[in-house]
Amino acid sequence: MQVLLGTTLSPVLPLLLPCVLLILICKLWTVYNVRSKDPNCKAPLPEGSMGIPFFGETLQLLLFGAEFYQKKYAKYGRVFKTHLLGQPSVRVIGAANVRRVLLGEGDIVQVHYPRTVQSVLGSKSILVATGKEHDRLRKLVSKAFNIHALSEYVPYMQQFMTEAVKSWCDKGQVCAESESKVLIFRVAGKLLCNFDYDEEESRHLSQVFATMVDNMLSLPINIPGSQFNKAIRARNIIRSRVEASLKKKKESENDLPFTDALRIVSEGGHFNTEQLKELALELLFAGHSTTSSTAVMMIHYLAQRPDIVKRVRNELDEFDLLDEEEPLKFEDISKLKYTSSVIKEVFRISPPIGAGFRKVIKTFQLEGKQIPAGWTLLFSIRETHALADNFAEVEKFDPDRFMPERNEEKKGDRFNFIPFGGGSRGCVGKQMAQLMLKILLITLSRNCRWELVNQETPRIELMPCPHPIGGLPVRISRLDCNANRIDFKKVNEAGDVAC
Ligand code: HEM
Repeated sequence: MQVLLGTTLSPVLPLLLPCVLLILICKLWTVYNVRSKDPNCKAPLPEGSMGIPFFGETLQLLLFGAEFYQKKYAKYGRVFKTHLLGQPSVRVIGAANVRRVLLGEGDIVQVHYPRTVQSVLGSKSILVATGKEHDRLRKLVSKAFNIHALSEYVPYMQQFMTEAVKSWCDKGQVCAESESKVLIFRVAGKLLCNFDYDEEESRHLSQVFATMVDNMLSLPINIPGSQFNKAIRARNIIRSRVEASLKKKKESENDLPFTDALRIVSEGGHFNTEQLKELALELLFAGHSTTSSTAVMMIHYLAQRPDIVKRVRNELDEFDLLDEEEPLKFEDISKLKYTSSVIKEVFRISPPIGAGFRKVIKTFQLEGKQIPAGWTLLFSIRETHALADNFAEVEKFDPDRFMPERNEEKKGDRFNFIPFGGGSRGCVGKQMAQLMLKILLITLSRNCRWELVNQETPRIELMPCPHPIGGLPVRISRLDCNANRIDFKKVNEAGDVAC
């Protein structure tokens, strides 16, 4: 019998052995990770899988993006374990769970970014600072985003937005994704760091910036051609530009007509050049991809909803703000409830940041499962929004849900709507981001109409920030001039176009 088995198995043995070995190594890997749970806590670890040695489930995440998390949620529920970017991790979904995490900063969790993100941004940035140093930096940085500072930014925002929208209309057809990136880079660069880059330079730098952001969340392998290496090289280019700009600023210190965010922050505390470079990089990082993603998603949704654009125009008319020559003021913009609801609805349905990172510093429990000290925790913003029970027809794009008559936002747990996070690490730039987006929406609605070039609505890629696949080609023209409008039929006969 033994001889018989031996003869039948002998051709497959060379294949079988590595498979058995691989399964064994994976089992040992899981045991090794599970052993890092807290022995003093009786609760079991959340369900989930730790993937394969070293890589964990990182490759699946890189391959499937946000779909990876959706599948895990469908299989394991609102709290599950995994192994990502070299760390045993737990992903947490739902308002009650996220509330516990965001209000537990410094007690059960502490802000934490993957090693690759920390290396790119630097060790002293506000994003990674903790305790008293974080409080100090946050206080200083918040000054750059108070009402007084924001009011000063408004004319510059309006000027850049008007110029950009005018040039889009002159072209007649643009790629909304790349144009939004360039525009937000120009506005953010000017207001945060007083960069004076023309359109071409902004275009180049916004591409370099995108390379940095797109490759930041990667395995910590710094060899030529690796994702992490690409992020570092892009970071170095941006840093050298920041340095040159700081030097130029220092030389013309007294001639500057307005106070940029970096100057407001540096006047309040003692910063050396190295720290200022880090701060500039992190403010651009925190504000650029997030705001430009919301801008392109807004253009995408509204291209399909002229009725909503019409209501924005009606509201502008009601407050005598429809005239494109009318300079905007902070207090006038604050009165526009419908305009504000449209922006909020874009944030709700397509939050630019899908999740935030924390390190667990004290073992605690969620839904009866142990969340062990030392592990990474990811609190989900995207899935938390998708599961919120206070929003009716959660998948529908419906700005009215935020209007005073319905006010769905206030009807449930406030952690059901968290595009800007919350607690002591909530976004310091949220007012500035909202202001930029409102001014863009006002400028677009005042001056032009736009529609998707392709008949088929594009699919949305959710990572690193939501963006329509194909770059969102849109046909755009001034309301009073149809000269540049392209014949819809002609474009579609030629087939769908991408940017
Ligand atoms: C659509 C735009 C934006 C979105 C959706 C957004 C979202 C967020 C979120 C979710 C956090 C919290 C992360 C966490 O808890 O781990 C955060 C933090 C932060 N954001 Fe924003 N942000 C936006 C724009 C901006 C802008 C324009 C700036 C500044 C120029 C900015 C600066 C920051 C900073 C400095 C932090 C860290 C705060 C801290 O750790 O104390 N953000 N942002």
